[in-house]
Amino acid sequence: MSDAVTVTNRDGVAVITLQSPPVNGLGFAVRTGLQAAIEAATSDDAVDALVVTGSGKMFSGGADISEFGQPPPPGTPHLPTVIDTIEASEKPVVAAIHGFALGGGLELALGCHVRLAAAGTRVALPEVTLGIVPGAGGTQRLPRLIGIPAALDVIVSGNMVPATRARTLGILDDVVDGDVVEAAVRRARQMVREGTPIRRASALEDRLAETRGKPEIFAEFRQTMSRRARGFEAPYACVDCIEAAANLPYAEGTAREREIFVRLLASDQSKAQRHAFFAERQVAKIPDVPKDTPLLPVKTAAVIGCGTMGGGIAMNFASAGIPVTVFEVSQEALDKGLAIIAKNYAATVAKGRLSQEEMDTRLGLISTTVSYDDLADADVVIEAVFEDMDLKKEVFGKLDTACKPDAILASNTSTLDVDEIASATRRPDKVIGTHFFSPANVMKLMENVRGAASSAQTIATIMKLSKTIGKVGVLVGICDGFVGNRMLYAYRRQADFLLEEGALPHQIDTVIYDFGMPMGPYAMGDLAGLDVGWRIRQRQAATRPAHLRYSTVADRICELGRFGQKTNAGWFRYEPGSRTPIPDPVVNDLVSQISAENGFTRRQVSDQEILERCMYPLVNEGAKILEEGLAPRASDIDVVWMYGYGFPRYRGGPMFWADLVGVKTIYDVMSRLHDEHGDYWLEPAPLLKRLAEQGKGFGDLDVVASFPWGSGPSPV
Ligand code: 3HC
Ligand code: NAI
Repeated sequence: MSDAVTVTNRDGVAVITLQSPPVNGLGFAVRTGLQAAIEAATSDDAVDALVVTGSGKMFSGGADISEFGQPPPPGTPHLPTVIDTIEASEKPVVAAIHGFALGGGLELALGCHVRLAAAGTRVALPEVTLGIVPGAGGTQRLPRLIGIPAALDVIVSGNMVPATRARTLGILDDVVDGDVVEAAVRRARQMVREGTPIRRASALEDRLAETRGKPEIFAEFRQTMSRRARGFEAPYACVDCIEAAANLPYAEGTAREREIFVRLLASDQSKAQRHAFFAERQVAKIPDVPKDTPLLPVKTAAVIGCGTMGGGIAMNFASAGIPVTVFEVSQEALDKGLAIIAKNYAATVAKGRLSQEEMDTRLGLISTTVSYDDLADADVVIEAVFEDMDLKKEVFGKLDTACKPDAILASNTSTLDVDEIASATRRPDKVIGTHFFSPANVMKLMENVRGAASSAQTIATIMKLSKTIGKVGVLVGICDGFVGNRMLYAYRRQADFLLEEGALPHQIDTVIYDFGMPMGPYAMGDLAGLDVGWRIRQRQAATRPAHLRYSTVADRICELGRFGQKTNAGWFRYEPGSRTPIPDPVVNDLVSQISAENGFTRRQVSDQEILERCMYPLVNEGAKILEEGLAPRASDIDVVWMYGYGFPRYRGGPMFWADLVGVKTIYDVMSRLHDEHGDYWLEPAPLLKRLAEQGKGFGDLDVVASFPWGSGPSPV
């Protein structure tokens, strides 16, 4: 027997325990051990019944994702085989579940004859989030237990199902207080004593009868999920499997599930989604910040400025149950900011996603002040005043005096140098950037910007805080635009040039939307508002290097008073009250006019050129960022783009996607584009060139481990 599975005999009941920390993943060793344990117990006369359980924090987190794609050692049983062996047992098998039973873990439990769970357990089939379908009978057994509509919901969403709901649905037989293994042993003995007939999920038919021969159920479901699942293969494959459960005998249904599982496992989408899973976990690991760095407790927070960002940031704290004091220049500004916060919460209540009581609790956690004296107790302060260096330094100087010495002072600046802001304090080690994305109460990304003096404790505390308030924190170094906006700029710039050369906003947006982004650059501009960028460009005009190509298209749109959705006109026009962009001949004429003014003969720009010209420079800028040591891993950049800009998860983020396309292909196109257009931003990054020459990808790079960032050695 392997160490990964242990067996103890409790007066005739074999308790088989998975012992594979941290999540009891069902890897090669566990499957081998489990199969051997089941076979031994079922043929042992001293065993009347079996209990299968987990150890540590959970029952099982499912298949070991890190082993996907690796050939198993000879003789390793497939998970479906192990589960079929369990289900076929003539002796009762009871699953004793605690913590989580996910994916293959839940499928294992579904193969048992009875499922008991400790209170607080959560179960799910999250395979869809990894770009696959449940591959160990889950799509066939679950519908037989809970019916087709509920199974569609559970499997296609991949969502966690709390124990009580799982009990109601019929996934679990009972939720027990106290020791679940003890309860399972008792239940197993009772079954033996009373000769309770064994109930095998694969043999149940009743729940299928109600939907058999009703293809419209599946057609409708596919229709309703089409917006949410746009571009993803796995949700549709899940529906196909469940439809097979409805219409085919069990054995044929499982064969179909297996075939689809194997196909998806090898797909680029699944590779990308598995990459995303690990990238999200890697991002919290900072090479020079030890895991055991003592954190500063964050029990109270303060936010300076209650405008667009400050209000949203304050909501994050309140929603996480952390009391937050909001500071503004005047009571009037506070009242205005608070009214918007209340309106935002009320909208969530109206949608049924928050109770009125919870809204009141959250609002009760937000206090307001116009006096710095009231900030003395805050553990963390986040500044979100206007984007002006002198103002920020003034505010940080005052905070330094008013706040307790170990409070962390963070800035939400989107463009300014965090080190210069820190210089206004006597605690630069406790100063850091926390770049939230708009709307700050919704968007999950936080670019945490490390200054030269930010201490390990400050970094670790802010990274943890990101998680506590439901965000994904990515640590980045200081540079213009940080990681996300710097890359965005490289892409937006080429889009405007393409307009001058022959494309139209609608065409570019369509290509980018079809690639899988939530919207194209022009619809995004209209949503965000065009005037802020215009004002910044006006200020920069005097210092803009004359030799760099500059497109005036965006400025000319603004000169017409078209600032985006807020004026019902920008790159597109909008019907009053509608957010749907409509191509506008006024813009198209203006674009043509600008082409002519600048000596361009408009040409047919292909969709492929749009994609390459927008996305490859974005990747190229990511390569520069890596080489400059402003992000420790290519996968961190992927996380920034998935969470901050909606880069399609099924493409794994721009750097992973680049590896799928082939770094050499991207390098070759960038070289050609640079030769053709001469634009500085099209110049291939040295790292891109080296990887292309070595036949490598971004996934082959090591983590940048040296600090301060920005002066580390080249990662290759
Ligand atoms: N396979 C391999 N590694 C896994 C894993 C899995 N299924 N689940 C978690 N891990 C690893 C994580 O990468 C992490 O490793 P690290 O410490 O080196 O970074 C470690 O285990 C701990 O994970 P978390 O940080 O996520 O720990 P939490 O306690 O926050 O969460 C969890 C635990 C809820 C189980 C979460 O890890 C999770 O959701 N795991 C994935 C569950 C899943 O998707 N299962 C389906 C797998 S596919 C499948 O079963 C196919 C089948 O149908 C055939
Ligand atoms: P905003 O103009 O909506 O809000 C700024 C608020 O700061 C105003 O309510 C103002 O009264 C207040 N304020 C000004 N001086 C103050 C002072 N001395 N003390 C206290 N409050 C003061 O600006 P917005 O958009 O919220 O931006 C705030 C910061 O967030 C800026 O640094 C900006 O660059 C950054 N940011 C903005 C994003 C956006 O999309 N709007 C995205 C990410 C970062």
